Amino acid sequence: MERTLCIIKPDAVRRNNVGNIISMIQSAGFTILGLKQITISPKVAGEFYAVHRERPFYAELVNFMSGGSIVPIALQKNNAVADWRTLIGATDPAEAEEGTIRKLYAANKGENAVHGSDSIENGRIEVAFFFSELELIG
Ligand code: RTP
Ligand code: MG
Repeated sequence: MERTLCIIKPDAVRRNNVGNIISMIQSAGFTILGLKQITISPKVAGEFYAVHRERPFYAELVNFMSGGSIVPIALQKNNAVADWRTLIGATDPAEAEEGTIRKLYAANKGENAVHGSDSIENGRIEVAFFFSELELIG
C-alpha cells in the first residue's frame, strides 16, 4: 500500500489547526500509520528540504520549519501520494482549489500549513526520515 508524508507546518500548529487537518485526513480515507509533534533544528529542516538548497526561498523555508512545532504524520492509502497532493492544494493558497487544506488554512506561499511528498519514492523516503518502522502501525 502506498505511503506519503504529511507535515503539519508551524503556522498551522500555531493557529490550532492540527485537529481540523487531522479530521480532513481521516474523512478522506487515509490511514494514519504514525504521528508525533516535534521541533526540529535548522540543520534537520535543511536536510529535509535539501532538494531546494539552491532556491531563493531556502533560508526562509529552513527558518520557518525550525521555528515552531511541527506534526509529521505517516499516511497510507491507495494512491496516497497523488490523493494527498490533491487534498492539500497548490503551493500558493491563492491558487489552491476551494475546500483544500491550503485554501482553508494557509496564509501564504511560504507558510502554507502542510507538506506533501511529491512522488511515491519520496513518500517512502520521507516517512522513513521522521519515523522508524517501530513507530509505524504494522
Ligand atoms: P511541500 O514540499 O512543502 O509539500 O510544498 P510544495 O511541494 O507544494 O512546494 P515546493 O516547491 O516543494 O516548495 C517547498 C516549500 O517551500 C516553501 N516555498 N516558498 N516563497 C516562495 O516562493 C516559496 N516557494 C516555496 C513553501 O513552504 C513550500 O511548500
Ligand atoms: Mg515539495
